[in-house]
Order: sequence, then C-alpha cells, then structure tokens
Amino acid sequence: MEKKRFETEIIHGGYNAQEFHDSLVPPLFQTSTFTFSNAKQGERRFAGEEDGFIYSRLGNPTVRILEERVAILEGAEKALAFGSGMAAVSAVLFSLVKSGDHILCSKGVYGCTFGLLQLLEEKFNIEHDFSLMETKESLRETLRPNTSCIYIETPINPTMKLVDLQMVAEIAHEMGIPVVVDNTFCSPYLQKPLELGCDVVIHSATKYICGHGDVIAGLVAGSEAFLNKVARTTQKDIGGVISPFDAWLLLRGLKTLPVRMDRHCENAEKLASVLAEHPTVEQVYFPGDRKHPDYKIAEKQMRKPGGLISFTIKGTKEDAQAFMDRLELIKIAVSLGDAETLIQHPATMTHAVVPEDARIKMGISNTLLRLSVGLEALEDIWQDLKQALDKG
Ligand SMILES: Cc1ncc(COP(=O)(O)O)c(C=O)c1O
Repeated sequence: MEKKRFETEIIHGGYNAQEFHDSLVPPLFQTSTFTFSNAKQGERRFAGEEDGFIYSRLGNPTVRILEERVAILEGAEKALAFGSGMAAVSAVLFSLVKSGDHILCSKGVYGCTFGLLQLLEEKFNIEHDFSLMETKESLRETLRPNTSCIYIETPINPTMKLVDLQMVAEIAHEMGIPVVVDNTFCSPYLQKPLELGCDVVIHSATKYICGHGDVIAGLVAGSEAFLNKVARTTQKDIGGVISPFDAWLLLRGLKTLPVRMDRHCENAEKLASVLAEHPTVEQVYFPGDRKHPDYKIAEKQMRKPGGLISFTIKGTKEDAQAFMDRLELIKIAVSLGDAETLIQHPATMTHAVVPEDARIKMGISNTLLRLSVGLEALEDIWQDLKQALDKG
C-alpha cells in the first residue's frame, strides 16, 4: 500500500485485514507457542530458513502488527515491543555498550534510567557522564574515545529542558557514536528523532502511546540491523517481551493518539500561561513558553510543545505536598499521558532514587511538581489547580 499520512498510518499501518479473515480490528493471538506441521518445519524455522512464528517470546502476530505500525510512525526500518519502557531502555543499552565503555547522557533522565546507569557502572564498569549538550564545542569536550552511546531525553523528565537532536546527531556521527532518544514525552506525533538524524528511538509506551493508563509497555525503533541484533540477543535472552494482549491494547490506544495529543497540547498551553500568573507559583517550565530558554529548539524539532508542565511552588517541600493534597479532580500519581490529569512530586517519587546532590544538579528541587495535563475540560482542571493554589 502507498504510504499515507501519519493520522492514516496510525489507524491502518502494518495491518492487512485479508491476512486475518477480513477482521476489521487486528486479532489477539493470545498464545504462548505455535505448532509446527512436522519436525523438519520446526528445524527450518529455528534455523531461520522459513518465515513463521515459533514461540511468543520470539515473536507473535499481534505484537508484529504493533511493531510494524510503530516502525511506520517513527520512520524506522523496524520496531520491537517490550514488556515495559525500562525493558526497552535496558535491552538497547545492553546491546550498545560493553564493559569499559562510556555513555554520555542528557543532564536529566527518568529516575530508573538513572538507576540503570548506576548499575551498569557498579557491575560492569560502564561509566557515564551527564551533559546539557548545549553547544557543539561542549559536546565534543565531553565525548571520550570509549563513548559508545549518547543517550538523550528531550524534553528532559521532569525539568523540561530540551536538547537539539539534529546538532547532537551531527557531532555524534562525525565520531561514529549512535544516538539513542527516549521519545516518551513526545510520542511520534510530536517529534521524530530518526528524521533528525538520531539512530534509535525508545518509548515508554505506557504513556501517550497507550493513552488509557491500563498497560505497561515499551517500544524501540531504528535500523533493521540494530533491531535484529536486539531481537536475537537482549530481547530474546533477557526476555522483557510484551504480552499479546497488551500489544492489542496499544494498537487500540494508538488509533486516537493524534486527536488525544492535540487536546493534551491545547490544554497544556493554556494552563502553562495561567499557572505562570498565579502568585503562589514560582516558576513554570514549559517548552511552548516564549521565555523558555529552549523555545527555539522546541519550534525546530517538535510539532507542538507537549502535554507536560513542570512548575515550582513558593515555599518548602511540605508546601508543595500540601498543595497536592488540596487537589480534588487532579490525581496524585506517577505516569503521564493518560486521559486523567496527574500530578507528581519528582524529588520524592519518580526521581527519589537519584541522590539529593545529583538531583539538585539535574534541576529537580524539593518544590518542583510535574503535571501531566489530561483530556478533561480545561476550565475544570484550572478550577482545581486554582482552588489549591489560592489556599497556599
Ligand atoms: C521518560 C521515561 N522513560 C522511560 C520510562 C520507563 O517506562 P516504564 O514505566 O514503562 O518502564 C518512564 C516512566 O515513567 C519515563 O517517564
């Protein structure tokens, strides 16, 4: 089929109903294994001489449809699905680095990614550094001869700083270093790292891709050669695969991603500006704000500035927590990208594993809050925030 626009591919891409009894919706293959017609067929499938499924840890038809659809959306040759975002992050890092290597990381990453980097260092002697990656010069200075991967989150969770992906990819490729981007905050609808020259894209599909708060899953997209390597090694042998049912739920959630993202972004843009005006709010971090230091990067590489806002409350950690406790409609929960507006306190929640000095250097203070703006009526979200702020 001729390639269609994003909003069409997200509904039809990677699926041919004729191959599945004309079922409108991709069927759920809830099976652990597949039978062979005879022993020789089993031998041929294991030898890679014949296409066909073997065992659901090695591949499953429902999962395959999801992977093909995501590859189309990210503009990748191939994609793989995992049982969680962290299974995806670890499969990629374990594939790219070996003992004695160095990883250069954006200054700020999801807390468990930070934990994984610590583990790689302690157990396998794989070092890492954090860099703002602001200029070509500063980037060149922080790369080492043994740097085997550049790992980026942009917008960075939860400080909302941005990294210029095109600039980093240019420098990295001069030195033959692959660039991995955690694209969770954007989804492929808002940002396409591969089109900007990066090599591997990761998602916690738990978030916007699912969109309904009922699945934990991860995705990786990139070149066929790299993803075949991941599929045959770290995915197959470590085994963090997705269940067929969760892949089926993601296929369902994905269909509405553009519509949902438009609404998340519209709500977030309006809320960011009213929040900034409130006397109890100290600072708002939102890439769509013209005063945001990385506004130009947002304009260059993101379709819209996203549905996440971080902000600091005037006062102490206890004031921030008391504000959260006064909220009525907005739920206190980690995760993001759901229909429900969620708020969390990174210092004691998603980034609690990061030691305090490293956390402060990342820009995560005790009064920073992260708001994942949902799909509710803007007026109701604001009314709830306002009543809780007014009492502060
Ligand atoms: C940016 C980012 N990357 C990765 C992850 C890990 O994803 P999961 O919880 O699906 O394992 C998260 C989870 O919050 C995240 O926010």
